[in-house]
Amino acid sequence: MADFLTLDDVRVNGKAVLVRADLNVPMKEGRVTDATRLERLIPTLKELAAGGAKIALLSHFGRPEGKPDPKYSLRPVAAELANLWGQSVAFAEDCVGPVATAAVAALQPGQILVLENLRFHPGEEANDPAFAKELAALGEIYVNDAFSTAHRAHASTVGMTQHLPSVAGRLMQAELTALHRALGRPERPVVALVGGSKISTKLDLLHNLIARVDMLVLGGGMANTFMAAKGLSVGQSLYEPEMLDAARSVMADADKRGCHIFLPKDVVVAAELSPGVATQTVAASAVPADMKIFDLGPKSVAEIKENLTMCKTVVWNGPLGVFEVPPFDAATNEVAIGVADLTKRGRILSVAGGGDTVAALTGAGVTQGISYLSAAGGAFLEWMEGKDLPGIVALRQAQPTMKKAKAIL
Ligand code: 3PG
Repeated sequence: MADFLTLDDVRVNGKAVLVRADLNVPMKEGRVTDATRLERLIPTLKELAAGGAKIALLSHFGRPEGKPDPKYSLRPVAAELANLWGQSVAFAEDCVGPVATAAVAALQPGQILVLENLRFHPGEEANDPAFAKELAALGEIYVNDAFSTAHRAHASTVGMTQHLPSVAGRLMQAELTALHRALGRPERPVVALVGGSKISTKLDLLHNLIARVDMLVLGGGMANTFMAAKGLSVGQSLYEPEMLDAARSVMADADKRGCHIFLPKDVVVAAELSPGVATQTVAASAVPADMKIFDLGPKSVAEIKENLTMCKTVVWNGPLGVFEVPPFDAATNEVAIGVADLTKRGRILSVAGGGDTVAALTGAGVTQGISYLSAAGGAFLEWMEGKDLPGIVALRQAQPTMKKAKAIL
């Protein structure tokens, strides 16, 4: 699977190395509220610094739509990175032009610079060749360590690879290795747990998974649509009436391919979604007409856990119930604890990510118990959908350029 080059293939000593990172971290009132993406960048930064590279970080932050907007400045993120790094991190107020050039030129080996938000320039999202060239002119080597932006065909993820020797950073490498082990050539049986509210956003994902996994466990609001497609009443629950045929086609496809679809056997219902509301557990075939489904019931959870003990690989995307509102986090928490336990005992390889999954597993207190918890959102989903991500394709295609640039290897 390693059809691209990595940090092992470049000598960075004394060179200006441009690292495409994903510094798009959650922030509230000017402070980073979850530094996971920054923490995960540290191995690449350490290796580059130890190798004597002059490190310039390129990233987007939010969606400023091609023009400067102080709300989306990377300055506070650079400050948080400096805290984690334990040394000062320089900051340049533009990612191209004289300001950026001077800031890179001032770097000493081992030092880090954060360049201002790439998306302050329209050329970034347009993958404008002139903008990509300007970015590339800042350095001698390009390292892509942002799997979570690999689904975007932008100047900093794709265009730059045309101009510089291009390799994957350690985070990108770790992410791709984990994903490959989970869905590329997994140890079987493989179970996919898929939750979340809507089928409409996950149709490609479901069809791709059916072709690759042995069992697909459905939870969250999307399971309601499958139940309705099977002719069960879901009471007042949220479901997608226009997706009933799509759900039936997923089930028929699964049947053909020998993938077992697990639907809830029992569910937890309530009249409304509020903490502490009176709940009932009912069979999936007996949802009261005036009630809404908010979680899977204990029988479903027990069966899912039983199935997990028989598998070797688990991929998980999306919570199984409305985990944000207790007690409807129970199924997600209990299954998460089960997955973490099997993982710790070396019985399964578990990979989870995308959307709310990290928040749900953090709530369950098991982030350390999953073999690989991806910090990517959209990119994780697109990868699970079986799509070729432009950032990864670009790294792969950059190999011949690398081979020509032997001087740098
Ligand atoms: C993410 O947070 O998923 C990535 O940073 C990509 O951000 P985007 O959806 O704004 O391109």
